[in-house]
Amino acid sequence: MNRRAFLQSSSAALAAAQTAPARPVRVGVLGTGNRGTSLTRRMLELGDVAIRAVYDPNPEAQARAQDLVASVGQPKPEGYRGDAASEVWKRLVERDDLDAVIIASPWEYHAPQAVYAMRAGKYPGVEVPVAQTVEQCWELVRTSEETGVPCMMLENWSFRPDNLAVLKMIRAGLLGEIVHCHCAHGNDCVGRTPWYFDRQGNPRWSGFYLMGRNCDQYPTHSLGPVLSWMDIGCGDAFDYVVSMASRSLGINNFFSKTLGPDHPAARRHYSQGDIATSLIKTKKGNTIVVNNDMQLPAPYDNRWRIQGTEGLYCEERNAIYLWRRSPKEHEWEPFPPYMEKFQHEWWKPVSRPGGPSGDQLAQGHGGTDHQVLRHFLRAVRERRPTPIDVYDSVNMSVLIPLSQQSIAQGSQPVKFPDFTGGRWATRKPSFALEGQG
Ligand SMILES: NC(=O)c1ccc[n+]([C@@H]2O[C@H](COP(=O)([O-])OP(=O)(O)OC[C@H]3O[C@@H](n4cnc5c(N)ncnc54)[C@H](O)[C@@H]3O)[C@@H](O)[C@H]2O)c1
Repeated sequence: MNRRAFLQSSSAALAAAQTAPARPVRVGVLGTGNRGTSLTRRMLELGDVAIRAVYDPNPEAQARAQDLVASVGQPKPEGYRGDAASEVWKRLVERDDLDAVIIASPWEYHAPQAVYAMRAGKYPGVEVPVAQTVEQCWELVRTSEETGVPCMMLENWSFRPDNLAVLKMIRAGLLGEIVHCHCAHGNDCVGRTPWYFDRQGNPRWSGFYLMGRNCDQYPTHSLGPVLSWMDIGCGDAFDYVVSMASRSLGINNFFSKTLGPDHPAARRHYSQGDIATSLIKTKKGNTIVVNNDMQLPAPYDNRWRIQGTEGLYCEERNAIYLWRRSPKEHEWEPFPPYMEKFQHEWWKPVSRPGGPSGDQLAQGHGGTDHQVLRHFLRAVRERRPTPIDVYDSVNMSVLIPLSQQSIAQGSQPVKFPDFTGGRWATRKPSFALEGQG
């Protein structure tokens, strides 16, 4: 599905009506940079949310979020601030008037802040990825199991309308038995968006990761829909991975052309290869290719393709082929009619008095930011499990350290930890089941 069609479809979609809340969900936000601010805006548009407190070491980022909340008539949230090394954020988490904490801080803080939130009885809604190391993944799992507090990584691409329609088709058996999938995160965050480095070539917090390690740095947008398409954690599980990375030329080339060949950013050593490719084998014997492609000039793309014994879906072609169903044998047919027919109930147009407008709902990654937050906040409100649970969150994120290890060892296979302790074989799929409101 191309971006234009995606945005058109999502602008038509309104969130399903929410059940009447007894009181607003009370939220604190850790990290009010670009993402924390946009999540705050989206929560305010959804309504039934009270933003009580915000933390950011950067005074401008903090004030911007406070003003945003005040601009919709809510009391100005209390601000907490300390230098990057300080642990002032813990005071926000410890407040006794919060139900949930949204975590949109730099990557290294996600797991410690989520663990602290669970121990304080607050649902963490954590930006991607939820963890950086295998140890952090285990700590998240154990803390959630011990405390009984769910932990949800806010992976918005799991909620895309096209991906959910594909999920329904898979569950209806139209693709037969699934055997293989391809996915990618193709997003030029060097040249298109100055996310890893500023335009003067200085590394932002994220850029230091590209300088210091070689791996799939950002696997969750690729894997988000794949988890539910392939029943990972509930019927199947990742078994092992082999990874390799290409040469690292893109960042030096970009800064050489934009700042000059002698500029320090053009001459600096970057550990991260331009394209990191991982090949995952699942316990059932299925295979998944995952590309990380974030530093070469290219349009945004996810390259999702999922294939079974009876057919396949190809996101790049916006097409599908179903053996013995498609009109012409072994020829693609357009996906949009299927997307309409298998539209997930989450994307059916239902308006709610006082709820967000269609224009508002189309904001934020085509409306998926509203979806991911709406379902997280609903779980908080009803004190029930989150749609993406702690096992899903760590399964998507653990590819970071495992791919790093495999690449460093010359593409040796690396085993995935079994975070469910064997329960993946008997757990039933629960993500995006319809008829549950
Ligand atoms: N899901 C998506 O589509 C999506 C999109 C963009 C970013 N993200 C994720 O959001 C997170 C934030 O990215 P961003 O683009 O907003 O970065 P950013 O640099 O704009 O914001 C990060 C903010 O965190 C603050 N901060 C620093 N130390 C902190 C700490 N200990 N606790 C809390 N805050 C702290 C910084 O001052 C900054 O304002 C990242 O994890 C990123 O991967 C997700």
